[in-house]
Amino acid sequence: MTPFTMSRPMPPPPLRRRSTSFLFLSALILSLFASQIPNVAAAEIDIDTGDIERAASNLTFENPNLRQAYIALQSWKQAIFSDPFNFTSNWTGPNVCSYGGVFCAPSATNSSFRVVAGIDLNHADIAGYLPEELGLLTDLALFHINSNRFCGVIPNSFRKLKLLFELDLSNNRFVGGFPNVVLKLPALKFLDLRFNEFEGGVPSQVFDKDLDAIFLNDNRFQFGIPENLGNSPVSVMVLANNNLGGCIPASIGKMGKTLNELILLNDNLTGCLPPQIGMLKELTVFDVSFNNLQGPLPAEISRMRSLEQLVVAHNRLTGEVPASVCQLPRLQNFTYSYNYFTREAPQCSRFGGGTVLDGRENCIANKSNQRSAKECSSDAAKPFDCSKSKCFAPAAISTSTVTAGWVSHPTAFAAATNSQNLSSDSPSSASASGD
Ligand SMILES: *[C@@H]1O[C@H](CO)[C@@H](O)[C@H](O)[C@H]1NC(C)=O
Ligand SMILES: *[C@@H]1O[C@H](CO)[C@@H](O)[C@H](O)[C@H]1NC(C)=O
Ligand SMILES: *[C@@H]1O[C@H](CO)[C@@H](O)[C@H](O)[C@H]1NC(C)=O
Ligand SMILES: *[C@@H]1O[C@H](CO)[C@@H](O)[C@H](O)[C@H]1NC(C)=O
Ligand SMILES: *[C@@H]1O[C@H](CO)[C@@H](O)[C@H](O)[C@H]1NC(C)=O
Ligand SMILES: *[C@@H]1O[C@H](CO)[C@@H](O)[C@H](O)[C@H]1NC(C)=O
Ligand SMILES: *[C@@H]1O[C@H](CO)[C@@H](O)[C@H](O)[C@H]1NC(C)=O
Ligand SMILES: *[C@@H]1O[C@H](CO)[C@@H](O)[C@H](O)[C@H]1NC(C)=O
Repeated sequence: MTPFTMSRPMPPPPLRRRSTSFLFLSALILSLFASQIPNVAAAEIDIDTGDIERAASNLTFENPNLRQAYIALQSWKQAIFSDPFNFTSNWTGPNVCSYGGVFCAPSATNSSFRVVAGIDLNHADIAGYLPEELGLLTDLALFHINSNRFCGVIPNSFRKLKLLFELDLSNNRFVGGFPNVVLKLPALKFLDLRFNEFEGGVPSQVFDKDLDAIFLNDNRFQFGIPENLGNSPVSVMVLANNNLGGCIPASIGKMGKTLNELILLNDNLTGCLPPQIGMLKELTVFDVSFNNLQGPLPAEISRMRSLEQLVVAHNRLTGEVPASVCQLPRLQNFTYSYNYFTREAPQCSRFGGGTVLDGRENCIANKSNQRSAKECSSDAAKPFDCSKSKCFAPAAISTSTVTAGWVSHPTAFAAATNSQNLSSDSPSSASASGD
């Protein structure tokens, strides 16, 4: 099975809970965060609602929350310039719960009235922007607008969506710096910003949030992966196809109990694979292909006992491909092609057993489809001393959006490496514990 978290248009995210029915989830979320329901009467949203307010004053609503939702949705409709599949053409009148793509559920504070708990306009191909008035949807738990043509930035009023649990803005045309407003959403668990045009630094705070999944792939993020990466409790993290640069932070080892899928493909990463990846015992998919990683495959990879997909192709890795890696118990696909490995254990060239092992275009003697002698004697093929590795200091950290926690001093790698006691996590103790 190939990781399916990268493709466009958006597949459903790879979380088991995604199979939970929408309304059940909404109700669950609403009850979980009952105590956080804001007082709608006290909500102060200084926006010019104009004609919409006047129209609303002529209508009868089931409850004040739905009146607020009407104002939000009518404002949004005015901010929509193209709706080729008519998703919003029935957004008229006071019954907002029957609007296309709008889902109501009982309020958590008072189950005898309904509120707008979800918006799902996935794959609607709508062009427009998100108006500030969307902040009036204070009961919202799910906001899914993937595969549309929404542009501009995420309004600051989103900070009022205190119950928002899943935010999927993927495959749109949003621009600007990382939308920091999402860092202020206390209930957020699922953050999907992939396939947009966000740029600048990834704020370190995103890794301090109690999220289940982070998708930032296919944007224009830069300035490195923040050093506190390992603070993140997510099960899925996809940062691929950005221009992050820098090293993989050694703090990654702290994600051992939770991280299930990590995709850092094509991020212009440098340096060595930190040995702390060996602590990622639950990781099933690890893809760091198409970067500029150097040095060897750390022996610690043999402790990643859950690995199914291991993809390190298209880097500058050298040294040996050990048997312990090729024999990982659940490995289905180990792709290490287009590196400069010079040796591999016999177990790695064995066919059959259901594991795909792709070691083309390396410098392995007696193996077919290897690089030319010329390439294998080039500078790129030279072994690299990871003890001398340092993350390059990016030339220009100038914009104010760079709160990425970038640690540019040369000892960052060494310091972080020493902060973990790897010897207490030895292969023998790992196999003894039976995982
Ligand atoms: C409100 O209703 C009155 C009476 O039906 C009508 O005259 C007026 O135009 C309506 N106002 C709006 C803003 O729709
Ligand atoms: C959307 O509505 C317009 C106007 O009513 C109609 O011409 C068009 O065919 C509809 N499009 C779809 C995809 O239903
Ligand atoms: C509006 O459209 C949605 C989806 O097409 C449909 O489920 C809903 O019943 C419609 N509402 C009304 C009032 O026609
Ligand atoms: C719940 O809402 C209903 C209908 O709006 C109202 O009659 C009732 O007083 C509310 N109960 C509480 C505890 O607020
Ligand atoms: C990768 O990062 C380096 C160092 O910052 C930079 O010079 C280079 O342009 C980047 N590569 C790409 C393809 O952007
Ligand atoms: C193995 O993984 C690589 C990289 O993701 C992919 O390109 C390839 O198609 C996979 N091979 C099989 C047989 O699944
Ligand atoms: C590898 O190739 C060399 C030279 O072609 C040959 O002498 C040697 O026997 C080969 N070793 C194996 C294990 O096939
Ligand atoms: C690391 O763990 C090993 C084995 O548990 C222990 O003997 C050693 O003292 C620890 N080292 C440090 C620096 O904590």
